Amino acid sequence: MPRQFFVGGNFKMNPGTAEQKKTIVKVLNEATLDQAVEVVIAPPAIWLITLRELLRSDIKVSAQNCYFKPSGAFTGEISPAQLVDAQVPYVILGHSERRTLFHETSELVAQKTKAALEAGLSVILCVGETLQEREANKTAEVVQAQLKPVIDTLKESDWAKIVIAYEPVWAIGTGKVATSAQAQEAHADIRAYVTKAVSPAVAENTRVIYGGSVTAANCKELATQPDVDGFLVGGASLKPEFVDIINAKK
Ligand code: G3P
Repeated sequence: MPRQFFVGGNFKMNPGTAEQKKTIVKVLNEATLDQAVEVVIAPPAIWLITLRELLRSDIKVSAQNCYFKPSGAFTGEISPAQLVDAQVPYVILGHSERRTLFHETSELVAQKTKAALEAGLSVILCVGETLQEREANKTAEVVQAQLKPVIDTLKESDWAKIVIAYEPVWAIGTGKVATSAQAQEAHADIRAYVTKAVSPAVAENTRVIYGGSVTAANCKELATQPDVDGFLVGGASLKPEFVDIINAKK
């Protein structure tokens, strides 16, 4: 079975106002969207439930983070069980902003991934190298080191609920999108690693999506690559052009 194209919108700590949020909902609810694409919006946690209720039923919502404990004295955190209870089906884990600004290690990301899956969530698992690492020819090595603790923690059947997002750090929010050849190479390397470290079937079935300065102008070319199974979009997911990105394969 071909892998279903996946387009996620990571709003990060945006939009700033309820008015902006209303505009985004209106644009998405009125758009003609490619029905073959799985569309997932990740707003700030405070808007998860409202957006789930306001958005059309063919658009899912995702949290941008969660903790690995089910409940307890963890001020500021949200548990996977609480997300499931709020009917939130997805969570983004391991985003480079969490790794860098909030010092999340790959081991912590693996622990969170395991807890999220056990609670019943699906996970958008982010990996990616810095510019310095790319220039030192360490892209594959870095990405594999980020994936390994997750691979070591999960069972083969867990992978049905994982989407891997390859987000080179140098492309995030910089306007410097990876070329389609760079994205294809990194995605193919990830698939080859998953083939070896998990199984050929998991590698074949797991979606590997690209994130980093995706826009309406560059998405079509990226989407032609055989190992690019969709996008995780930051800045452009807050604009009407997000609709064109969802429809990149049309
Ligand atoms: O998670 C998506 C993201 O990090 C990419 O952000 O603004 O470069 O599309 P942006």
